[in-house]
Amino acid sequence: EKGGYEHFMLKEIYEQPKAIFDTFRGRLLPDQNMIKMGGLFEYKDRFLNADRIIIVGCGTSWHAGLVGEYLFEDLARIPVEVEYASEFRYRNPVITDKDVVIAISQSGETADTLAAIKLAKQAGALIFGVCNVVGSSIARETHAGAYTHAGPEIGVASTKAFTAQVTVLALLSIQLAKLKGTLNETRYHQLLEELYSIPSKIEYMLKSDKQVRAISEKYKDAQNCLYLGRGYNFPVALEGALKLKEISYIHAEGYPAAEMKHGPIALIDENMPVFVIAPKNGQYDKIVSNIQEVKARNGKIIAIVSEGDEEIAKMADFTLEIPDSSEAFSPLLTTIPLQLLSYHIAVMRGCNVDQPRNLAKSVTVE
Ligand code: F6R
Repeated sequence: EKGGYEHFMLKEIYEQPKAIFDTFRGRLLPDQNMIKMGGLFEYKDRFLNADRIIIVGCGTSWHAGLVGEYLFEDLARIPVEVEYASEFRYRNPVITDKDVVIAISQSGETADTLAAIKLAKQAGALIFGVCNVVGSSIARETHAGAYTHAGPEIGVASTKAFTAQVTVLALLSIQLAKLKGTLNETRYHQLLEELYSIPSKIEYMLKSDKQVRAISEKYKDAQNCLYLGRGYNFPVALEGALKLKEISYIHAEGYPAAEMKHGPIALIDENMPVFVIAPKNGQYDKIVSNIQEVKARNGKIIAIVSEGDEEIAKMADFTLEIPDSSEAFSPLLTTIPLQLLSYHIAVMRGCNVDQPRNLAKSVTVE
């Protein structure tokens, strides 16, 4: 059932090209220059007239929501708030019938997320679900939605569900942008084509994990790790850190790179591996200076860079390359090597990667 892979997690990492493809199959139609999403179409006016979108979720699904914030604001110019379901529901939040609430959940059973949408529904908001498990409690509680078609995710650490969630959010934001007129025709078409090419780019990246193994070997005994990213890749830094801590039990923190100087920089010494997500078309020059700040304090840099990058390669202890893409889709690529790093480090440390201690696949208690 693990299809020849040693663990479900590894199998699920390698299934991502298919999970993403299946998620946009029948929806993303570059040849016809269109996106078809029934749930969005049905509630088009609610989305277009919304004051804001509130995205709720927990854990990795919350991280996908953060990527969604960048997508919706950047492409469709709709204000977005991303909320931990557990905080949102107990905060006496201000919700009206002009709000659209997007609930993201792989299992569709997370208690806090379910309670958050029940509350928002009562206040009159439109509830849109992004779930992986068909017919799950959250899916049933929503007005409309778009399933991720990642297939069953068995490993406790979420991998393919995350990239499938980001794929749905990309489809939604591009289509909303089109409806709102915030994207010109050329850019719209480019984005459709580019999203369509993501699975093959991931396929290509998954061909060799030699460099990932070498890096894992080198840093597997670290006690702390820092993950830094900016813009669209800030949520990827959070997700990279979560993946490492939950399966390898190494303490890890994700930060927006510019925040480092406001505190975490004090932690940097020769024993601190710093994973920096630094593709070419993010805020490249800014992140180069963040890397210099780390190197000046003898920290170790492992950088995720665009293919052919030379500037960061000169400064970093290790680099991992990703194929070129628009910044908007880069999280779908930069996430992959970070998942693999966590996986290999955890295996090298003898951890039970598919069932890490203290964790459950679906959290049905609050
Ligand atoms: C992390 C992880 C958890 C889940 C979280 C939400 O790898 O798996 O953080 O993402 O418990 O679960 P769902 O998406 O099922 O609501």
